Amino acid sequence: MVEALKVALAGLGTVGAGVVKLLDENRELIERRAGRPIEIVAVSARDRSRDRGVDLARFAWEDDPAALAARNDVDCIAELIGGSDGMALALARDTLSAGKSFVTANKAMIAHHGLALAEAAEKAQVALKYEAAVAGGIPVIKGLREGAAANEITCVYGILNGTCNYILTEMEAKGSDFDAVLAEAQRLGYAEADPTFDIDGIDAAHKLAILASLAFGTRLDFDAVATTGVRLVTAEDIAEARALDFRVRLVGIAEANASGLFQRVHPCLVPRSHPLAHVAGSLNAVVAEGNFVGRLFFEGAGAGEGPTASAVVADLIDVARGEYGPAFAMPFDRLSESGPIDTGDRRGRAYLRFSVHDRPGVLAEITAAMRDANVSIESMIQRGGAEPSEDSDDVVSLIMVTHEGPERCVADALERLKGAQSLAGEPMWMHILDL
Ligand SMILES: NC(=O)c1ccc[n+]([C@@H]2O[C@H](COP(=O)([O-])OP(=O)(O)OC[C@H]3O[C@@H](n4cnc5c(N)ncnc54)[C@H](OP(=O)(O)O)[C@@H]3O)[C@@H](O)[C@H]2O)c1
Repeated sequence: MVEALKVALAGLGTVGAGVVKLLDENRELIERRAGRPIEIVAVSARDRSRDRGVDLARFAWEDDPAALAARNDVDCIAELIGGSDGMALALARDTLSAGKSFVTANKAMIAHHGLALAEAAEKAQVALKYEAAVAGGIPVIKGLREGAAANEITCVYGILNGTCNYILTEMEAKGSDFDAVLAEAQRLGYAEADPTFDIDGIDAAHKLAILASLAFGTRLDFDAVATTGVRLVTAEDIAEARALDFRVRLVGIAEANASGLFQRVHPCLVPRSHPLAHVAGSLNAVVAEGNFVGRLFFEGAGAGEGPTASAVVADLIDVARGEYGPAFAMPFDRLSESGPIDTGDRRGRAYLRFSVHDRPGVLAEITAAMRDANVSIESMIQRGGAEPSEDSDDVVSLIMVTHEGPERCVADALERLKGAQSLAGEPMWMHILDL
């Protein structure tokens, strides 16, 4: 009789309860695949009396998750609490230093402390697994770490936050503004009561930093991710993008080359011919370009009880099989240091929306700034307003698409326009995805 892998679950919320359900429902299949049973022996959460829709009476209960790491009957801990530091991090450190494997869905913690935890796991010769931390149910960590391991990856990018994608998709479908769709998403449970991490792009940045390290063999550097969320995207931007044959998506992009590492999360105009433009609702998708395999496209549910539990249990199956492997696809000391590249050198097209006073001379002021900054304009549309007049208080939109050029030039043009009389608000700048 083969010994079971004995697991403790820290956290019994959406993901934790999902893991219990999945292990119950697919027990026999998982045992055959893993080569041995996977057995939960102990659990921890804050509220012992809460009904979680699963039978917990069969497991030992610990009020303090830290006590799980010290239990002699536990081989591996699945941390499903969350938070970059605090309880989750203490548990990770205790687990690894106790020589036990550690599985987590916690992108914030991996983005901030993944390197140190990977080093600790390597020293202890145990597993550190985090498939559920990036794009929920999509096996993109395994895809890059194992499936694409023979390739040099030149870029990895994708839609990494389901809440933002849901909001942008709904804004397009209903023609509604951001605030209205966010409120509806909160009512339906697609967005948190405090949506900051999602809508400001921080959650996507956590995932992008992890993907970049894995894809390029560079040391994880979350602080170097340039991050802009979706708060300032308007229904008008989405309608204009649509008229130009694009869709607006929050895209995380990472590229590595000889000059360094580029990591950015930003609302982008995605051509409708690109697969990312068709990723709708709360789905996630990741694209990776390998030098031998070509383009890989992963799509699926980035969150939710079932998909996230699926990823956590896949990691537990690896641990049960003894498939540990280095957390970031190569031994910790082989990860290279790679500084951020100067984004000014990056070439691309830009979408610009200016809110302008509908007065004579406005166009001349804006186009002069473009000319002086060496930005070449591909197309320009002015919406709204009747005849412009000197005393008009009307504010209209001027939409511009630039020809391909260095980002530095667009930044320079916008700098020149700071405080310009013509402008009635901050310009909106979105990059056009051209990959
Ligand atoms: N939800 C998703 O779809 C999803 C997708 C991908 C990754 N993740 C990640 O998975 C992790 C868990 O997410 P979740 O959605 O399952 O969160 P959740 O529903 O809020 O559950 C968190 C669990 O942690 C427990 N907990 C919190 N603080 C604790 C403490 N100090 N001591 C003991 N237990 C504590 C809570 O206990 P009580 O239940 O008693 O309050 C709860 O059971 C997070 O890192 C998240 O980023 C989630």
